[in-house]
Amino acid sequence: MKILAVESSCDETAVSVVQDGRTVLADCIASQVDLHSIYGGVVPEIASRMHIEAIYGLADQALARSDLKRSDIDAVAVTYAPGLIGAVLVGVNFAKAAALALNKPLIPVHHIRGHIAANYIAFPELKPPFLCLVVSGGHTMIVDVQDYTKMEILGTTLDDAAGECFDKVARVLNMPYPGGSALDKVSQTGNADKCVLPRSKPGANPYDMSFSGLKTAALNLIHHAEQVGEELDVPSLCAGFSKAVADTLVPRVVMALEKTGYKNVAVAGGAAANSQIRKDMQIAADKLGAKLYMPPIYLCGDNAAMIGAQAYYEFLAGNIAGMDLNAYATKSILGETI
Ligand code: KG4
Ligand code: ZN
Repeated sequence: MKILAVESSCDETAVSVVQDGRTVLADCIASQVDLHSIYGGVVPEIASRMHIEAIYGLADQALARSDLKRSDIDAVAVTYAPGLIGAVLVGVNFAKAAALALNKPLIPVHHIRGHIAANYIAFPELKPPFLCLVVSGGHTMIVDVQDYTKMEILGTTLDDAAGECFDKVARVLNMPYPGGSALDKVSQTGNADKCVLPRSKPGANPYDMSFSGLKTAALNLIHHAEQVGEELDVPSLCAGFSKAVADTLVPRVVMALEKTGYKNVAVAGGAAANSQIRKDMQIAADKLGAKLYMPPIYLCGDNAAMIGAQAYYEFLAGNIAGMDLNAYATKSILGETI
């Protein structure tokens, strides 16, 4: 089954063709990063306009690269939630028009389910059940992936997402947007022990997390150094910050693995590219004798291939939308409106 998949929830316009949920025939992407970097963050109105400009050309490109005709497409899939509402709407409207014109099913895909499904592309042998640590710009959660479309959230951030915090700290350190990967690079020459930042333990659910206190601690340190004219060891601050994020995430994943008894664990989302998180997850998995699945960096960030992968399983589960499909800025991974 060949699915034309569309992703436009934030600042990447992407169209892919994915076969049977696992094989990527074409993966086309137009990044808007350069445009938004002028402003230090995503400007939603600009994002929507750029999606409109790019989406048709990308769809043609995806068909050409996969050497397919429009009539070879069996279904059209689209990220319908969550994301910047104007941006998501562009993809949803394009996908509706494409599905209507081709007379093929329209498959709605939750963006975070797509991130998890990036693992199906990278690891053809991976099948649920498994545990997944999702760390993106807007979400941080530990998900029990019981089946392709049946999931349970074991824990989630109670405030900021980890990726969002990486970006905010990087921005104050004058690093280019999006700051997560720049901060990660700088941290390589730092010493995390020279800059120990707090690890929070919020709430009653031991799997829940909090990052806003950590973010504030890092920002206070930077502002204080500025005010007193002290030279900051930026690489060590970045290393200490990354270590605190990893120390917040990884022990909770370990607890969740022990609770579920799963032997397979995956990571997903843009911040799953972080080298400290990847390193600590590997150490933890090895210690537990669990198999760790980490998608290559290019599949961690937003792309349409992951949407096409998840769409196949949504289709098999009978999750097909009508022409009344709407876009949602927020929606839980379980499909509930938040
Ligand atoms: O999943 P994603 O592409 O978009 C959302 O769905 O939000 O995630 C983007 C986030 C940004 O916050 C970006 O700074 C972060 O992922 N990120 C990283 C790294 N690469 C990307 N954060 C930390 N270390 C990285 N190497
Ligand atoms: Zn994403």
